[in-house]
Amino acid sequence: MDKLLITGGRPLAGEVRVSGAKNAALPIMCAALLTEQSLRLDNVPRLMDVRTMGKILALMGVEVGAQDNGHLELRAREIKDPTAGYELVKTMRASVMVLGPLLARCGRAKVSLPGGCGIGARPVDQHIKGLQAMGAEIVLEHGYMNASAKKLKGARIVMDVVTVTGTENLLLAATLAEGVTLLENAAREPEVVDLANCLKAMGAKIEGAGTQTIHIEGVRTLSGAAHRVMPDRIETGTFLAAVAAAGGKVKLTGAAPDSLASTVEKLKEAGVKITAGGDWLEAEMTGRPRSVSLTTAPYPGFATDMQAQLMAMNCVAKGKAEITETIFENRFMHALELQRLGADIQIHGNTAMVTGVDKLQGATVMATDLRASASLVVAGLVAQGETLIDRIYHLDRGYESLEKKLSGLGVRIARIK
Ligand code: UD1
Repeated sequence: MDKLLITGGRPLAGEVRVSGAKNAALPIMCAALLTEQSLRLDNVPRLMDVRTMGKILALMGVEVGAQDNGHLELRAREIKDPTAGYELVKTMRASVMVLGPLLARCGRAKVSLPGGCGIGARPVDQHIKGLQAMGAEIVLEHGYMNASAKKLKGARIVMDVVTVTGTENLLLAATLAEGVTLLENAAREPEVVDLANCLKAMGAKIEGAGTQTIHIEGVRTLSGAAHRVMPDRIETGTFLAAVAAAGGKVKLTGAAPDSLASTVEKLKEAGVKITAGGDWLEAEMTGRPRSVSLTTAPYPGFATDMQAQLMAMNCVAKGKAEITETIFENRFMHALELQRLGADIQIHGNTAMVTGVDKLQGATVMATDLRASASLVVAGLVAQGETLIDRIYHLDRGYESLEKKLSGLGVRIARIK
């Protein structure tokens, strides 16, 4: 299993290009299931999760082209087998988003329940409830969701919790349902908007994506389209957090600054100088950051996917920070690993009290989930000596060429096979 070796203590300097957003690319790939025609995507990140989604679609009979320089073409001329099996679904929860489009296109689907996950329970009850409201019958048997519907019907669906992939699954399904669907208490994440934009390019009638109520008027068929996946706001934020912790000056290009206002605000509070233009951001930091407290919330609140990286920054900040996680109940696994680097963190329920220390020391640590791994990288950049991060397959799921990008910024980093 690959490991990353980071020798910390050097500020970051240079320019780096942000990749396309994983969390936008995955639901958009599922949109290919809704049409017989080709979906031509650009800015698709080269990531394990994208490959996993490609495999899941290919097993159903979707023609999945070779990924070349961000370009990926998908064509679901015919869906031979509307099934997503446990072996792949268990490795990536986002695969559950094939359920809605398969039901809409084929009238049936068999999708494995995703099961447990490192950061909490993560049920899919809202996905199921929404599809049932649209007339689907869903039976849970042998670990699978067996779903069928002669024709999905538009419905008013009020989601009990704000769920990103839940909103996306139902949005995908509603595009081909008969009549109007109203998704209320919908997730407002920019990735939902990006998916809606792709679906609109395919001929879907959608209004209100990015607000709490999405109005979808079902159409009979959708066509092929070309779509460019939005920039990854979490990758962008991770680089910004790295500059905040380790210091230096970095320009991020190919970014979407408007999509990460809450992160930028917190980092400015920490003392980072951030300037931004249409598609770039520049961050400059000298000296130690100031501690910043935060509470995660659905968009436009502070993203749970940035919590771990800001915790890492707070570990070396001046002062005390209170970090409250409200989205996932078990998302402080990184705190224990950060403690191995010398961090002072106390956990009480869903709140972590972080008292900044002058210095972290390199150690061997273990990545437990995607963003936890990113926080260990951020900490490793500023720790004295060598930090060896084990189980970095988590990082490969969600960060394109991370070590190449960081070494381009002057970081001493190596992948150990
Ligand atoms: C998505 C993101 C993930 C991010 C998360 C929260 C993708 C592929 N993944 O995950 O990176 O951390 O949003 O921003 O986009 N819930 C239920 N019932 C459901 C669905 C969710 O109770 O049917 C709960 C979850 O347990 C959690 C909360 O709702 O407490 C939010 O989860 P959700 O937004 O669904 O996360 P994901 O879409 O899985």
